Amino acid sequence: MIKGLLIVNAFLNTEAVTATYDALLLGAKRAGLEMNRSVNADYFVDMADGKVKCSSPKVSEQLSEAGFILFWNKDVFLGRALEREGHRLFNSAASIEYCDNKALTFEKLEGVVRTPKTFKIPMTFETVGYTSFEFETFLGDNLGYPYVIKECYGSYGGQVYLAGSRTQAHDILKHIEGKECIAQEFIDTSRGRDIRAYVVGDRVVASMVRSNANDFRSNIANGGSAGRHEITKEQEKMAVTAVHKLGLDFAGVDILFGADDEPVLCEVNSNAQFRGLKEATGTDITDALFDYIKNTSCINISDTL
Ligand SMILES: Nc1ncnc2c1ncn2[C@@H]1O[C@H](COP(=O)(O)OP(=O)(O)O)[C@@H](O)[C@H]1O
Ligand SMILES: [Mg+2]
Repeated sequence: MIKGLLIVNAFLNTEAVTATYDALLLGAKRAGLEMNRSVNADYFVDMADGKVKCSSPKVSEQLSEAGFILFWNKDVFLGRALEREGHRLFNSAASIEYCDNKALTFEKLEGVVRTPKTFKIPMTFETVGYTSFEFETFLGDNLGYPYVIKECYGSYGGQVYLAGSRTQAHDILKHIEGKECIAQEFIDTSRGRDIRAYVVGDRVVASMVRSNANDFRSNIANGGSAGRHEITKEQEKMAVTAVHKLGLDFAGVDILFGADDEPVLCEVNSNAQFRGLKEATGTDITDALFDYIKNTSCINISDTL
C-alpha cells in the first residue's frame, strides 16, 4: 500500500478548509491509500551553515515512508526544502508559487492562453505609498473604465476591486498601497459570471458556472451561486493548457466569458476548494485526484527500481 502525507497549514482552520482536509483524507482512504495529516508547523526549514534541510522531529518516520506528499499549502519554502530531499509534491512548490501571485501567473502563462489585457501596477513600499498617481492615467487610457484592480495575493473575491472612474481607481490604490497588484481589462460580457473548471492531470473532471446578479465577482464565498455546466472543448483546452504550463498536477481554473463566449483565463488556483463543485455537480474530485496520484506515484516508484 502506498503511504503518503497530507501537509496543510497549521493556522488556517476555518470550517470550509477543515471540510476540505477531511474530504481529502476520506478520498485517500477510498482510493486505498494510507495518508496521514500533518501541518507545516511540524516541519522546520533548517538553513544553518549555508545548507537547506528539512527537520521534522514529530513526523520524521511518516516523512521517510511517504511515497507522495499532498502539499495543500502555500508554504513554498517548506515545499522546496522537501523537494530538495527527493519528495514528490502534489502540487510542486514552484507551481503553487506561480498560482499564488496573480501577476506571476500571468507572467508564466505568456503566449499560451487568452487572458484579459493586464498590467502590473508599479510597486511601491508600504511605508511610502503612492506619492503620485500619474501612472494611473496610463492604466485608465489603456483599459478604459471600469477596469479591475486585484491584489496579487487574494482569494474568495476579497481582494478584487472594480474602478469605475479615475477617482475610484485612486481610492482603491490608496486603500491597498504597498501591496503588489495588477490592473486588468474588465470583461463586461462576464460580469458576475464565470466557469470554475477543476483539472486533474490531462482533463477537466468537473466544472460549474458561477453567477452573481448583485456583484461583478462570481465567487461562491462572496454570495455567488453555482449551476451545472457542460465544459466546452475550448474551455477544457484552455484550463488544461494553463495547468500544464504552470506545472500543476491539479487546479481549479477560473474562466471568463469573452465576446461570443470566447474563453478568457481569469486565474488558476492550486489549492481550490471543491465542496461547492460537489454540491453543484455531484462529482467528488478526490476520486480523480487520488487515481492520478496513485498512477503518478507508481510510475515514480518503478522508475527508481
Ligand atoms: N478581468 C475581469 N473581468 C470580469 N470579471 C472578473 C475579472 N477578474 C475577476 N473577475 C471576477 O472576479 C472574481 C474574482 O477574481 P479572481 O481573479 O478569480 O480572484 P480570487 O482569487 O479572489 O477568486 C472572478 O471569479 C470573476 O467573477
Ligand atoms: Mg477566483
